[in-house]
Amino acid sequence: PDNLRELSHKLGVWIGSAVDVTALAGEADYRTVLNREFTHITGENAMKWESIEAERGVYTWEAADAVVRNAQRNRQKVRGHTLVWHNQLPTWLTEGVADGSIDAKELRKILRDHIMTEAGRYRGKIRAWDVVNEVVDDDGNLRQTIWLTHLGPGYIADAFRWAHQADPHAKLYINDYNLEWDTDKINTTLNIVKDLKAKRVPIDGIGFQGHLGIQYDYPADFPNVMRQFTDLGLEAAITEADVRMVLPVTPEKLATQADYYKRMLSTCVADRRCVEFTVWGYTDRHSWVPGWFDGEGAACIMDENLNPKPAYNALLSVR
Ligand code: XIL
Repeated sequence: PDNLRELSHKLGVWIGSAVDVTALAGEADYRTVLNREFTHITGENAMKWESIEAERGVYTWEAADAVVRNAQRNRQKVRGHTLVWHNQLPTWLTEGVADGSIDAKELRKILRDHIMTEAGRYRGKIRAWDVVNEVVDDDGNLRQTIWLTHLGPGYIADAFRWAHQADPHAKLYINDYNLEWDTDKINTTLNIVKDLKAKRVPIDGIGFQGHLGIQYDYPADFPNVMRQFTDLGLEAAITEADVRMVLPVTPEKLATQADYYKRMLSTCVADRRCVEFTVWGYTDRHSWVPGWFDGEGAACIMDENLNPKPAYNALLSVR
């Protein structure tokens, strides 16, 4: 294959990228490469709650619509990200809960309305939704969020049921980070999935974010972890892959990074239920890593000038 789109067809796995909507609109080279290389896209921030409803009851769909429109024009599937999360919530919501002006009963209605409105708007246009994101903490407890605190653990099942009502054909996912290796988080997440299935809650998929760093050992057990979930009948996706490094960049570090990317994609290819491999931004020009991890960067498969890095070529070699 000459590019990732051809690789995607050859492997039978969608290969995606998160998209920065500002760059999509303003940078022709960014747009050209995105649409040449990828068969799946995720809005990096465009579909998050604070992006679509910063003011209560006032919806801003421009960025989210731009993601869906770009995908339709370029034969790309879309991952909706994300309906229920504890980050990037609008301040009217977090402040209203904190000062008691929004009580538990109202909060539940607000969450239902949010899911019905957003998933309903894009009904039929989203291949897969990250219905709940990061609901388990690193110790394997349900994460203490406004959702757990005020609605109780049943909010997870409710969210899937509402999403299914709003968009019956979308694949509905639970998505998390460190799920490639964190045993406590893995076991709790497996139990959540089993419990939802026992209750006939419509859950279809498991999302492994895939945020790795080369200063840590590669999570060698990842293929087995994925299998534990797909053996429950779930489809799987790697939803936010990137491989960061402590700067400066060296040829050795780029080679290790390439190996980590290749192993992640290979893990997906080897599991017949793994259908999608998405990177969290494809170019170091637009990556969340430098802003979030002090002293780290260069996490993507192309450099700032959109030239392929060793990681890009390593992906092309996966069979
Ligand atoms: C990140 C975005 O990349 C940043 O632009 C934003 O400032 C913060 O969120 N896990 C997720 C993603 O599920 O939504 C996060 O995206 C990265 C970690």
